[in-house]
Amino acid sequence: MQMDKDYFQTKQEQAKAYFQTLQAQIQEENFASALIETLHQYQQDKKKTWVNIDHWKQQPSKLFISYLAKSGQLDAYLHRSISYIYFRDLGRDITSEAMQNRITAVTEGVKNYLNQKEQRVPFHLTELYQMAQKESLEEVFFWVSDKLKRVSAILPDGLDKNEAKRKIMKIIAGVVMHELEELDGELSKDRRRQLLDQAVRTGYYYGLTYPLIDDVLDADMLTASEKKTFAYFIRQTLFTGEVLPVKADDWQKNHWEFISAVHQELSEAFHYLKSCQPEENRQLFLENAYLFFEAQELDRQKHLDNDRYTNEDLYTSVILKSASSRLIIRSFKPFSEVENIEANMFHYGMYNQLADDLTDLDEDLANRNVTPYTYFVTYREQNSNLINPFAMYWSVIYYFIHKLYPGKPEIRDVILDRAINGLKRLKARLGKERYQKLMQQFSFDPNFDKALEKTVHRTHNVAFFDKWIRDQFLDTLKQNQQLKNQFVSKMKEIKEQVEEQLPFESAKNSLEEAANDSLSGNAKRLRPMMTWVLAKEGLRLPDHLVLSLVKSIEYMHTASLIFDDLPSQDNAPERRGKQTLHEKYNHATAELTGLWLTQRAVEEQAVIKHQEPGRLLELIAYSTRTTQNMCQGQFLDLQAKGKQLTLDELRELSVYKTSFGFEAALMMPMIMAGESDERKQAVQRFAYHAGIAFQIKDDLLDITGDAKLLGKQPGRDERNNSSTFVSILGKEEAQKEMWRHYMAARKELATLPDIAFFYQLLDYLILRDH
Ligand code: IPE
Ligand code: IPE
Ligand code: MG
Ligand code: MG
Ligand code: MG
Repeated sequence: MQMDKDYFQTKQEQAKAYFQTLQAQIQEENFASALIETLHQYQQDKKKTWVNIDHWKQQPSKLFISYLAKSGQLDAYLHRSISYIYFRDLGRDITSEAMQNRITAVTEGVKNYLNQKEQRVPFHLTELYQMAQKESLEEVFFWVSDKLKRVSAILPDGLDKNEAKRKIMKIIAGVVMHELEELDGELSKDRRRQLLDQAVRTGYYYGLTYPLIDDVLDADMLTASEKKTFAYFIRQTLFTGEVLPVKADDWQKNHWEFISAVHQELSEAFHYLKSCQPEENRQLFLENAYLFFEAQELDRQKHLDNDRYTNEDLYTSVILKSASSRLIIRSFKPFSEVENIEANMFHYGMYNQLADDLTDLDEDLANRNVTPYTYFVTYREQNSNLINPFAMYWSVIYYFIHKLYPGKPEIRDVILDRAINGLKRLKARLGKERYQKLMQQFSFDPNFDKALEKTVHRTHNVAFFDKWIRDQFLDTLKQNQQLKNQFVSKMKEIKEQVEEQLPFESAKNSLEEAANDSLSGNAKRLRPMMTWVLAKEGLRLPDHLVLSLVKSIEYMHTASLIFDDLPSQDNAPERRGKQTLHEKYNHATAELTGLWLTQRAVEEQAVIKHQEPGRLLELIAYSTRTTQNMCQGQFLDLQAKGKQLTLDELRELSVYKTSFGFEAALMMPMIMAGESDERKQAVQRFAYHAGIAFQIKDDLLDITGDAKLLGKQPGRDERNNSSTFVSILGKEEAQKEMWRHYMAARKELATLPDIAFFYQLLDYLILRDH
């Protein structure tokens, strides 16, 4: 496959011609007066839907949606937002009857969704999972989660990881939305799933080019000559349709790891995107991708210090990049309703780009980026030929309202709502003074300025749902990050305090010494941490009691690991990053230490001073039963070697092996606090699900985990012919089963003492790498 080398030039000519039509429009005699009249009409009509409260100001509050619902504005808000998406992103004629019906139906759907969701955290992982589950898209959900993790891991700290995630998610949402619009209601469920799965992957792979190509070339991490090489690779790939291999020699040593990871991901992306193009679209895809890249490169080469750019230099790259990025998405699929969208691609692209660039003006100025706006404010006094980009923006709006859809107030309203909303947001962000200064600089007609300012000032109900989503999404990402950081530092702090308590005073050559060996090392200390947090923060038990329980649970658990690793059981040479006891000493020492630790765990409890000895007895009876149950679990586990267990049998086994240990970590403090049966049952249900989810993750890590991180060798289960969730269900079904239990455990947390820590801990159980 070869691309016509003149292609870029031909497109540049087209872009220039388009640029000239926009420019000519500005010169039309009634350009400003028609816009003023339009603003006037718009305001008149808008008054009819006047609401007294300036709800616009309340964004992006979490309560915004319920406020809209209560004040009866939700319908209009959603209708406006959804109409806009159909207009701008899908290029539809939203005035047709069929589209109006469609918009109303989608609005209804979104409203119902929002109504049920009021209590929940938008964009929490569980929300997204449930959406995927509804369409049987779990597999691709796991796939994307892994991929996003990988992108975060690849990107150096200097690049914005959250922004990368947001961008990728946004593009996935965009491609899925396109696909949903194309889906035929008659499709079989499976075909529907297949197409949506493909849309998610396509969106991901295409979205990846933003952080991995665009951001990388924008940033300063690579040297200038490395950037050239990088760009050369992209061009060659798009020219020839084949990916070149990369060589370590071409890159600085400290950049090589990054470059080879990026190369690997991008090659994968390229092959996937190429493979899912219908044959006849492939060339078009490569051409548009090339155009997009080349136009971005042109912009990147520009310097704000250079005072010699012409209008055409400034606008053609903007026109080309905005149109080609839209055409790429369309080339993934032959679309049914092409109508005028191809012909109007320049308009849609330009419209969006000029709105975005205005929003980003100050940031672009600070980064010395060349955009029509930054260039204009920098050079307008010395170069009177420069076209006012704000006038160009209004020229596109003028085209839509007066030429493409004349006499259609629906179109006018949705475009102006959006434009006014954008200006209001800008004004709020920059402050009145800076905003007014900008508006003066971009003024192209004094009467229009006045009409516009009046409209911006007086119009209120122009908020948009996609803006709310954007704000919420970033908010949630930021909040999640904060919570996670808090959790990580809290874990570290508690872990240190727990670990201080564990060791025994030991003489040389004693069982204490062997026990200390097992107790130390890189353990996660999940169980004693759970005990610690619940006992201290949830139940306010006194410190001496907390410490006894913490020690007791960790001794029981460590003993179970010593037995589990014995040659007669899992025969594991490493544990917690060190040799196992039987390897380091001998079998007898390992067995005796295990037994010694279980007894020591009971002793810790028996010596507790407590005014209610009944509770102490209950505690001891309970925890000895825990050890019995764990023995039973190991017995079942070993018996199952080489057997094809049913899911029920497998669950039962895990409950004995793992859930009972989790349960004890929480139940011991519950018993000492004299909690009600009802709460104890909630603990049991939580531990049941959390324990199974944890064990499934342990089984999954046994096939994918990293020995260094894990501190134990992966692959042990397969070697032992053990029955695990992965061996019985396969990786994907095991992941689904894990999520099912994770969600169920999450629900139970609502009935336990309200501790944010446990939500984080639960997330950690299934998202951890070790
Ligand atoms: C391992 O438990 C045994 C299982 C139930 C899978 P952990 O993974 O909690 O082991 P440590 O305490 O961190 O070493
Ligand atoms: C062990 O399960 C469960 C115990 C509580 C001892 P595994 O055998 O899967 O634990 P690892 O993988 O060795 O830690
Ligand atoms: Mg085992
Ligand atoms: Mg084991
Ligand atoms: Mg295991």
